Amino acid sequence: MQSFKISKLQVTNFRNLQPDIINFNSGINCILGENGNGKTNILEAIHVISLRKSFRKNASFPQYLGIDCEQPEIIFSSVFLDNDNHKLSVSGKMNNDSSSWFVDGQPMKRKLDLKTVFINPFDSYAFHNTSSFRRQWMDQHISQLNPVYKKTLSRYTSSLRFRNSLLSKKPPHFRNQINAIDIELAKSSFALTNFRIQFLKEMEGFCTNTFKEIFSEEHTLKVTLDTRVMGMSEEDIFNMLQSRIQKDEIVGHTTYGVHKDDYVLLFDGLNSFEYCSLGQQKMSYLSLLFAYVELFWYKFTSFPMVLIDDVSGELDRHRWQRLIDYLEKSSFQVLITTANEKFKEELERIEGANKIYVQSGSITNLN
Ligand SMILES: Nc1ncnc2c1ncn2[C@@H]1O[C@H](COP(=O)(O)OP(=O)(O)OP(=O)(O)O)[C@@H](O)[C@H]1O
Ligand SMILES: [Mg+2]
Repeated sequence: MQSFKISKLQVTNFRNLQPDIINFNSGINCILGENGNGKTNILEAIHVISLRKSFRKNASFPQYLGIDCEQPEIIFSSVFLDNDNHKLSVSGKMNNDSSSWFVDGQPMKRKLDLKTVFINPFDSYAFHNTSSFRRQWMDQHISQLNPVYKKTLSRYTSSLRFRNSLLSKKPPHFRNQINAIDIELAKSSFALTNFRIQFLKEMEGFCTNTFKEIFSEEHTLKVTLDTRVMGMSEEDIFNMLQSRIQKDEIVGHTTYGVHKDDYVLLFDGLNSFEYCSLGQQKMSYLSLLFAYVELFWYKFTSFPMVLIDDVSGELDRHRWQRLIDYLEKSSFQVLITTANEKFKEELERIEGANKIYVQSGSITNLN
């Protein structure tokens, strides 16, 4: 799989960022500045260019558009390098009604879908506390590795939506349609479950090792799937869906299926949510993410871009240092932000790192 590293970025009218050219190197890029100066906005602009969407909830053009700008239009200009260091220029224009994107000056026919891994300061907390976040995390990361999973998931989701809309109307004469949907749901449930199990099995080999590699501590780290369809055939799943139709009609939605699956992160065999300190939860979550980055390499011999928005919270100085050592040894491109003075000092000590200082949206690049 072809993957890309960002080399240059310039945005006009994007949030508080000035149209300064920001240069990145292919290793560690530290984005430094005090609170509210635009560090996360830089990561967000890259996320929008890569995936056409923000990682912030409910963010689109009206939120992106700089408050004081003269023209209601955002311009993105960027240069990426592929695995062979060939340059690829990606630009985009966005206004209230439309957006258009170009690669090397030519209109982009379909999304570039540049591979990224994004870590935000609250993700560890959300991962440990919210099952919908865990499901989304898994779906997003498996989809990035496997386009068939992505397609199957979207088929499942649209069938489920249709089923729920019929159920909410209640009359039983929709039964034939629901039966037809259930055949599709059973088929995609079976496939999705197999993909999920396969993914977790592949991750297992990397999780414990990555924890040890980063934090020099021996702990087993593993994610398990908590699903009601484990070991079931398509036919079993179909029968189960059918047996619950009456109940589903009463509540007006589908009460059974792989959209209810959950995941448990096990730390030395114990549920990390119940057992671990906040620091250990963060270490486990970071190890899980970097295990994913390592798995990505193992599968495609290329890396995603790793965007890390301030992860210094809950970790002590010793762990920061371990994390920095790991990033220094790694070959992927990483963009890491912090407003924490002490963590900033640690980052500033990294030899050869690119340092990007952000103040009121203006950028100063120091190598
Ligand atoms: N549409 C917009 N136009 C202009 N400024 C905006 C817009 N949206 C957000 N901002 C400003 O951007 C700044 C936030 O930027 P950002 O989240 O990147 O800060 P940060 O450097 O990551 O800070 P922290 O260290 O607190 O996370 C705020 O000052 C906010 O007012
Ligand atoms: Mg921020």
